[in-house]
Amino acid sequence: MTSLPLLRVRNLSSEFVTTDGTVARALDDVSFDVHPGQTVGLVGESGCGKTTTLLSIMRLLPVSARITSGQVLFNGTDLLGLSEADMRRCRWKELAIVFQGAMNALNPVMTVGEQIREAILLHDLMDSSHATRRVDELLDMVGIAASRRDQYPHQYSGGMRQRAMIAMALACQPSLLFADEPTTALDVMVQAQILELLQKIQKLLGLAVVLVTHDLGVVAEVCDAVVVMYGGKVAENGPVDEVYNHPRHPYTQRLLEAFPDLNRPAGSLATIPGTPPRLNALPPGCRFAPRCHKAFDRCHIEAPVETGLGRGHTAACHLLEKTEAAK
Ligand SMILES: Nc1ncnc2c1ncn2[C@@H]1O[C@H](COP(=O)(O)OP(=O)(O)OP(=O)(O)O)[C@@H](O)[C@H]1O
Ligand code: SF4
Ligand SMILES: [Mg+2]
Repeated sequence: MTSLPLLRVRNLSSEFVTTDGTVARALDDVSFDVHPGQTVGLVGESGCGKTTTLLSIMRLLPVSARITSGQVLFNGTDLLGLSEADMRRCRWKELAIVFQGAMNALNPVMTVGEQIREAILLHDLMDSSHATRRVDELLDMVGIAASRRDQYPHQYSGGMRQRAMIAMALACQPSLLFADEPTTALDVMVQAQILELLQKIQKLLGLAVVLVTHDLGVVAEVCDAVVVMYGGKVAENGPVDEVYNHPRHPYTQRLLEAFPDLNRPAGSLATIPGTPPRLNALPPGCRFAPRCHKAFDRCHIEAPVETGLGRGHTAACHLLEKTEAAK
């Protein structure tokens, strides 16, 4: 990639205070880049920190959570250094998100058109007479006929509700869109249509997209780069062809060994024996060590650091530190 990154996440760490008073280190030193117009896949098992990454970048974490360190450079400006008022000006207009499970969060007593219109007016984008025209434009962009504008969410199928959520996220013409598992809970045909829509919009608007998914096939199909997360850390990161053809982290290798697996339900990650670490009781050393088929003594004592492998490919594993140091 020759362009300057639109988004540079650098050493981002966030934590939750859990109900029993312990601290869960949900993100630890997470770094990755997103270039203009690029689609980046964010993958990893449930609870590995994908949603927390997006919410940290958007500064929309719940009150029980906080960002403890790092930088989120958007066009060179650190979003974490902005006042809340400046962040509000940037959120939705520069970076927008389709939240996980959002299609079920539409207000049941308002028409879809009213809800999109409200999103436009809330951000002071235009006066109310122009807003209705903009609603129709947005609906058209996501493939919903204007005649459906005044219908209620229950009159929409799941796929149409997800399209409406995408329209809402695009209301302020952001340059970066986060889509948190936008196809989960939809049937296979509709999943494909939503992915097609995201690709179409991405090209049409020159959008950069960060797509959270459990489906490695989807990443192979639509993403340029992939960030593989494990236990709140980035295990491996790089261009999709590079990571898929030459996975270097044992966790990614295990995930890809089982891919494609026709016996596995679509949309689920391969099952690796063992369970992910509890983030409020982390093991010393590498977080993957208890499940890693290649672990050795050092792995249980010392955490690996990210190693550059060339062509934008990085992975955090002691085995690579040795190999790279030997070169
Ligand atoms: N509301 C919360 N209270 C306490 N801890 C939380 C909360 N939400 C998340 N966490 C912690 O942060 C970790 C990361 O959660 P996150 O929702 O980011 O995972 P995820 O990768 O998006 O998972 P999924 O695939 O299930 O959506 C969890 O394992 C948990 O320890
Ligand atoms: S550092 Fe050790 S435990 Fe961690 S992934 Fe590499 S080999 Fe496995
Ligand atoms: Mg999530």
